[in-house]
Amino acid sequence: MNSITSSMFHCSHCDAQYSKWSGRCTQCSKWGTIANEGGGTKASAANKTAAAPAAVVGFESIKSSAAKRTPTNITEFDRVLAGGIVPGQAILIAGEPGIGKSTLLTQLAGSMKGVMYVAGEESPSQLKLRFDRLKLDASDLKIVTSTKVEPIVSAIKKHKPSLVIVDSIQTVTTQEHEAVAGAPTHLRAATAQLVATAKETNTPVILVGQITKDGQVAGPKMLEHMVDTVLSLEGDPQHAYRLLRTTKHRFGAADEIGVFEMTSGGLQGVDSPSGLFLTDSNNSPGTAITCTIEGSRAFLVEIQALVNTSSYGTPVRRGSGFNTNRMQMLLAILEKHGGISFAGQDVYVNVVGGMQVKEPAADLAVCAALASSRFNKAISQSVIIGEVGLSGEVRPVSQRDRRAKEAKRLGLNAVIDSTQTKTISDLVKRIK
Ligand code: TYD
Ligand code: MG
Repeated sequence: MNSITSSMFHCSHCDAQYSKWSGRCTQCSKWGTIANEGGGTKASAANKTAAAPAAVVGFESIKSSAAKRTPTNITEFDRVLAGGIVPGQAILIAGEPGIGKSTLLTQLAGSMKGVMYVAGEESPSQLKLRFDRLKLDASDLKIVTSTKVEPIVSAIKKHKPSLVIVDSIQTVTTQEHEAVAGAPTHLRAATAQLVATAKETNTPVILVGQITKDGQVAGPKMLEHMVDTVLSLEGDPQHAYRLLRTTKHRFGAADEIGVFEMTSGGLQGVDSPSGLFLTDSNNSPGTAITCTIEGSRAFLVEIQALVNTSSYGTPVRRGSGFNTNRMQMLLAILEKHGGISFAGQDVYVNVVGGMQVKEPAADLAVCAALASSRFNKAISQSVIIGEVGLSGEVRPVSQRDRRAKEAKRLGLNAVIDSTQTKTISDLVKRIK
């Protein structure tokens, strides 16, 4: 009874378990994500002997110096990490291919002493080429080319690096399993071993995670639970700006963002990023400027909308840098409470510069851009801030004065918000 050895199937997207293979996960409705875990469960081993009691640690005996942060010397990176890397910290950094993960980590390896770089995706000569291109000193860099996790762990214990960078975790396999690299079993086992080694030896590790088409870290969601910090490097590859965002952080605030510019000399930190996300055409119909707060900084962002008669049956609704579902909700509010019809109209909303705007404070500006494009009337130079409710009311936003101050600094003196624009129909009257 207790020696069941069963083969298990896992969904790599949501981690649901199945006893047999299927083409589609019934939990998350994804296709082709279910794979064999390989191996079986050794149910009998657990029952063999009564386990020795786990060690108990008293709070008095824990030294708080263990949480000392080491600055990475890359200001924007330190900003998202709330000051620097904590000993034993496990960081997962995810981003689309070609966005600059390897570039950022090469710069990190060059700015710190005694880093170990596990190059699974590139050969040492490619790595050297990038170090030379970025004019970095790689004299004390330790490069590991093995992609098996067990030798990597031994190398960490032997060489005691100050930081381990694994580029990427999807290329690392374990000797325990026979599945191909990147399979959920390997990912989970390799990450578990690397995280355990980080904790045991107090060596911080940074794992690069590839992401899937829909922007999730490829592999089990569990990877994100296993690490202390999840960072995502975002941006539009057509633009030079990259945002480093914390989506999980056990040692500090999770809402900070770092701003970088991709240059021929690698990623350069941008100290005062407001204004980067504006264009010169911000006085034409369909554009509106808002101010969004990310972590400790305020950004002025330009929102563009295009409303155009649809030539096909079903009109297009597309948001880039802004959530499409939220945009559809705002369209419904504009129809119902603002009296503007979008029937038979294609609607596109775009946030300039590859920025992702997630704050509801941008609602009013999105509505303004939509109305402005629909009426083909430009909005007078102003910063537009406010959250829009389902009954068409405009709500005040947090830190209003800070946003207005930032707008003023960049030459926008007028503020359109809930003080004079109480409902969406007030906004429509203003633009019409
Ligand atoms: P890379 O770091 O290899 O991306 P990832 O590891 O996320 O896949 O970055 C690749 C892009 O960055 C590539 O298109 C070239 C560009 N790049 C620069 O513009 N300047 C530089 O100094 C470097 C090293 C890369
Ligand atoms: Mg890379």
